[in-house]
Amino acid sequence: MNRAPLTLAEAMQTVAVEIDAQFDRTLTLPGDPRDVLYEAMRHAAIGGGKRLRPLLVYASAVLFNVSFDSAIRAGLAIECIHVYSLIHDDLPCMDDDDMRRGKPTVHKQFGEALGVLAGDALHALAFEVAADPATHPDPFVRAELGFELARASGPSGMAGGQMMDLAAEETRFDLATTTRLQQLKTGALIAFCLEAGAILGHVPPEGRRSLRAYARDIGLAFQIADDLLDVEGDAAVVGKATGKDAQAGKATFVSLLGVERARAQATMLVDQAIAHLAAFGQEADLLREIARYIVERDH
Ligand code: IPE
Ligand code: IPE
Ligand code: MG
Ligand code: MG
Ligand code: MG
Repeated sequence: MNRAPLTLAEAMQTVAVEIDAQFDRTLTLPGDPRDVLYEAMRHAAIGGGKRLRPLLVYASAVLFNVSFDSAIRAGLAIECIHVYSLIHDDLPCMDDDDMRRGKPTVHKQFGEALGVLAGDALHALAFEVAADPATHPDPFVRAELGFELARASGPSGMAGGQMMDLAAEETRFDLATTTRLQQLKTGALIAFCLEAGAILGHVPPEGRRSLRAYARDIGLAFQIADDLLDVEGDAAVVGKATGKDAQAGKATFVSLLGVERARAQATMLVDQAIAHLAAFGQEADLLREIARYIVERDH
């Protein structure tokens, strides 16, 4: 990457501004009856969220001298999937939530049909972005990005995890099954982000082992932190309703281990994730900082 190394705060800001600008450009209202669909997509996608996934793509890309523009475009693709997953996760047939990123959810503001459609459209847009030559000049890189993004999003990734999450309302899952659930629901998209930096940098699979191990650990730590915020967070700060998991009777790390042990587990996972980066020098400092941020965050 042809830029000076950024601190976590600088990188977060840079990536967030760039992702907002890309969504703004991509989602220009067409000036016809589809306008409301674009408005619903813009409502969900622009101006909110930590942009953690694009930040992870960027931090991984930094290791392999990937261009800033390629990293941001791959980050945009994964953020499209993430935002779509949030819109659908909030629907009345799923978690039935009214607030997301400090704003009304898409179905609250625009109605349920627009929630379904805005999610569908962002899902498709993710693959359009990944396959676009503007993302990377090498078609093999673009094909691998699309392939991995599809795998991380579908039944063996996020959608499969969401299915297990629904089942967790009916069945008492043990720790091993809950871990599997979290790895699919949240971990798969996070793992894609680290993988994307390596794909863009033409790093072969053998060279991705330590990054994959890092991704597995921070993915789990991230979902434990989300579950802790659901129990202990302040809805005004978190930007979404809290207390939902217990209300739904959902098995989470927090319900299984209790708050203290869940927090200790998340901290242990972060230390372990950082240890996996031992072979990297200061070019991996951003990834180390992100790992710590994931458990220290208040939203
Ligand atoms: C929330 O993700 C959904 C989970 C996978 C737990 P984030 O906490 O990254 O949400 P935003 O993007 O910052 O809103
Ligand atoms: C949803 O998990 C993760 C997705 C795949 C969207 P949650 O249901 O815990 O996410 P929040 O707490 O609503 O953000
Ligand atoms: Mg959910
Ligand atoms: Mg939810
Ligand atoms: Mg949650």
